[in-house]
Amino acid sequence: MSLVCEEEPRITRACTIARQIEDFDLLIEDMDLVFGEEWGNLDVSDALTFLNTSEAQTVELLAVALDDEDSVNLTTIRAIIENASAQKIKVLLIAEALSPIALHQLLRAGADDFVPYPLPERALQDALNKLNKPQATAPVMASQTEKEGRNGAVFAVHALAGGAGASTFSANLAWELTLLTETSNKKVCILDFDFQSGSISTYLDLARTEKVYELLCQTSEMDAPAFLEVLQTFNEKLHVLTAPSDMLPFDLLTPEEIERLIEMARNLFDFVIIDMPRPVLHWSEAVLNASDLYFALLELDLRSAQNALRLIRALKADGIGMEQYRYVLNRAPRFTDLAGKTRAKRMAESLGVSFGLSLPDGGSQVRDSNDHGLPLAEFAPKNPLRKEIRKFTEALYETSQVANLAAE
Ligand SMILES: Nc1ncnc2c1ncn2[C@@H]1O[C@H](COP(=O)(O)OP(=O)(O)O)[C@@H](O)[C@H]1O
Ligand SMILES: [Mg+2]
Repeated sequence: MSLVCEEEPRITRACTIARQIEDFDLLIEDMDLVFGEEWGNLDVSDALTFLNTSEAQTVELLAVALDDEDSVNLTTIRAIIENASAQKIKVLLIAEALSPIALHQLLRAGADDFVPYPLPERALQDALNKLNKPQATAPVMASQTEKEGRNGAVFAVHALAGGAGASTFSANLAWELTLLTETSNKKVCILDFDFQSGSISTYLDLARTEKVYELLCQTSEMDAPAFLEVLQTFNEKLHVLTAPSDMLPFDLLTPEEIERLIEMARNLFDFVIIDMPRPVLHWSEAVLNASDLYFALLELDLRSAQNALRLIRALKADGIGMEQYRYVLNRAPRFTDLAGKTRAKRMAESLGVSFGLSLPDGGSQVRDSNDHGLPLAEFAPKNPLRKEIRKFTEALYETSQVANLAAE
């Protein structure tokens, strides 16, 4: 018998691509389990050529296994993924210690999903089941929760100048709301949308986890249990979506994905506080549109005034309404500081706005409470900043109750 005859013309239903497939022995096991003999391995350098042959036509799945050493091959790997996804071949990333940014690029190039390596039990099979499921499931679930949803109020907080106090205000507002609603069955959550330097985790002493990153990568498939699983709690009451463990590019999420996250939170909570990053982004408008109130924090300095002016101009030029905007003057001059009060008045006039809220300087206790990971109510309940935030939260809560009654 000739060698040629021995080589059965078996079809290839799946391919792995790896620099060294031996390093991924759990993947080999899983591939054998799922595909039997109908899979093969390709080198990164051969993959593109193979994908353009007729043999590739039976391939349903490309499992790309990567570790941190693959960052140098990213351009080639991206081309492979683009080619496969153009041919409607499903692409699964198996990533070991790959940087989030690289992972993000590959998902953007068309990879359908990723699983971490070492593979958890049944991970490959589960990922394949998910990939083969019809896409329609996610939106259907969303509309179901919408009907039953709590329809929470959304308050976004944005600093118009770095360090103006947005995160301090969001964390304390969220905690005061939690305290106020303690005896009711109302639920409060805070979402840290500053995917790069988010500090809510620091201010509430919670860990920044990988799970958040995984959720943010898969918002289209997210259902309520998946969302809730990623939230942590502060003092068992306040629910928190921290920023992810690694810094992420802000364009990781589209405006639609941001809307989906907020919608999910609104359905599950009565109050949703969003801590916004400093820069204005392609999804900032999505947050503004979803917000009942949008707090813009500034200080009594030229930097804040100029930033505010630029922002107001930009929004006006784009025809974006600012009805939800509430300007908050942080570190505002005290009652007795008449000159300061005059300056604040002038600043408001020159911007054509009014300060809906003035927050006093709370001194070094504020920084210390943040560093201890405790809201002011827990760390320094008598602090003047805490008192003012408390008073404001009470008024906000009452207004929201009145609004709810009117809507019923
Ligand atoms: N009213 C205030 N009084 C005293 N310190 C404040 C006040 N507001 C903010 N801080 C401090 O200023 C720093 C920056 O605040 P942060 O809330 O992180 O700002 P942002 O989120 O706008 O960048 C923190 O150290 C915080 O403790
Ligand atoms: Mg901040």
